[in-house]
Amino acid sequence: MKKKLLSAVLSMAMAASLMVGCGSSAPAGTQTDNSAAQTETKTETQTATETPADTTAAGGGKVGVAMPTKDLQRWNQDGANMEEQLKAAGYEVDLQYASNDIATQVSQIENMISSGAQVLVIASIDGDSLGTVLAQAKEAGISVIAYDRLIMNSDAVSYYATFDNYMVGTKQGEYIRDQLDLDNAAGPFNIEIFTGDPGDNNARFFYGGAMDVLNKYIDEGKLVVQSGQKDFDNVATANWSTENAQSRMDAIISANYANGTKLDAVLCSNDSTALGVTNSLEANYTGDWPIITGQDCDVANVKNMIAGKQSMSIFKDTRTLAAKTVEMVDAIMKGSEAPVNDTSTYDNGTGVIPSFLCEPVFADASNYKELLIDSGYYSEDDLK
Ligand code: BGC
Repeated sequence: MKKKLLSAVLSMAMAASLMVGCGSSAPAGTQTDNSAAQTETKTETQTATETPADTTAAGGGKVGVAMPTKDLQRWNQDGANMEEQLKAAGYEVDLQYASNDIATQVSQIENMISSGAQVLVIASIDGDSLGTVLAQAKEAGISVIAYDRLIMNSDAVSYYATFDNYMVGTKQGEYIRDQLDLDNAAGPFNIEIFTGDPGDNNARFFYGGAMDVLNKYIDEGKLVVQSGQKDFDNVATANWSTENAQSRMDAIISANYANGTKLDAVLCSNDSTALGVTNSLEANYTGDWPIITGQDCDVANVKNMIAGKQSMSIFKDTRTLAAKTVEMVDAIMKGSEAPVNDTSTYDNGTGVIPSFLCEPVFADASNYKELLIDSGYYSEDDLK
């Protein structure tokens, strides 16, 4: 099935680059703590376009693409899409996966620098660990695009291509609010919270977006976190690992929900954590099934949505992100300015990085066919 999925991804990649546009996401001005420190914007140019990379006029050149891990489905799709679309635009591609190991990613980037890459596209494992190697890139005149995850505290980063991460969290929080009808129902309702890796800047945006919706209800006692675990550090999941989420949920259930106490909702920032929570509930929880959120529309999670075990996910079309990133690469290679639509949100500690934010889309059992199958993202067979 993996093979099938990959070939579907590859065959759709070019078509997607022609049809997608991810420019509808408004600049997010009023967002989390992370957006507060808006010191300096590296470029004021705002030239968002809806057009795909100009594949006819590419001058060639080498692009290094560093991905974090093959363990999670989405990064395989991201890497395949990037490779396919960059090659179609006339570039040589060095695509590397680092098994979620920071030292491996650093040495892969060193190799890309020494072997003549002109642009680096990096989805970091730990946003704070690339300062030294990226200083070498800068020294060598190589441009860096942070892909999906912001690279922190490095002034070598030229652009950031991602989805509106705060909006992902907002949509998850709003879903829980609406499903539990928190503005009208008496409650109280019980909720538990799972977010991602503390070294991934996105995790704070997902968490921040959701908690900006839910905190009000927690403060007024309508939502109760029985475990008491609600601060970012307490609800983070190292490496976004399914196993870590599962074992934390096991402990939470046995301490708080083994006596018939009902669990109404679990905020999960993404699908790998949602999978761990679902596995744990299946093994240990006997009450009515709670609302469970997610993100990525991974195959296992879409199957769980269809089976009623996960309530929703957020669809982030990796073909769209790749197309936008290829436009950025192309602009850099041609010495022009890359398309951005946000110059205020993502400060990496050295200033605001000009960003392009693609729009995340709500997905559940009622619209997955249209979103995922009709668009060619998955085949019917993938989801069997
Ligand atoms: C990505 C998510 C993904 C998570 C775990 C985040 O940075 O934005 O889409 O689920 O990493 O890989």
